[in-house]
Amino acid sequence: IVRMKLGDVIPDFHCDTDRGRIDSFHDWIGEGKWAILFSHPADFTPVCTTELARAAQLAPEFDKRGVKLIALSIDSAVSHRAWIADIAGYCAYGEVDKDNFPFPIIADESRYLSEALGMIDPDEINASGVPLSARAVLVIGPDKKLKLQILYPATTGRNFDEILRVVDSLLLTAKHKVATPADWKVGNVVMIQPSLPQDEALLLFPRMAIMDMPSGIEYLRLTPIPDDFSFVSSSDSSSHPPPP
Ligand code: BEZ
Repeated sequence: IVRMKLGDVIPDFHCDTDRGRIDSFHDWIGEGKWAILFSHPADFTPVCTTELARAAQLAPEFDKRGVKLIALSIDSAVSHRAWIADIAGYCAYGEVDKDNFPFPIIADESRYLSEALGMIDPDEINASGVPLSARAVLVIGPDKKLKLQILYPATTGRNFDEILRVVDSLLLTAKHKVATPADWKVGNVVMIQPSLPQDEALLLFPRMAIMDMPSGIEYLRLTPIPDDFSFVSSSDSSSHPPPP
């Protein structure tokens, strides 16, 4: 079992999906792209259907940011293909095309990948007595390293708006020495990273403001997002203006 830690390179695996085999996960991610690999317990289950529908609705937003999505469960490719019609049917009419579903679903029937990547929920057993895949989210950077990991049990559906929000934070903080505060959203001010010396911070972030704290310690340094930063990937920036 690979115990993935933040900063580890994700293993370059091969797998089957609803739309055919992927020989190399790294090649599938491609150059300069981010990827989100997210698992779910089982096809034709209610919470999973709502989750994949929400991911499909938000797929254009991930695409604009240069982020590729790929789902995973321990069901077969045949099952995934049949279930995709239900996922599209759950969405508003015309919103998601079942014949052009926006991301592949890995068929991890042997459970090899789910085990290897720590995506099994031992408490969630199916009718055959087999533990199911949990609701894991791995966000992988263009360097193929793990940037963020979320793990939910089968009984709690994820918030895909939150996943989009953390992607925006990851894209921003990969480029600039800032960190995003609690409940941050695009457009809000950000914090300058504590490790950045004050003289460098002033040069990099001339609009910096320091908040007075009762301790008198000047650690809460705020700045607007740098003007040259776009949340839309550069290959796509002509067709999609950045969000306000
Ligand atoms: C669901 O997707 O609804 C679900 C799957 C497994 C256990 C509980 C709920």
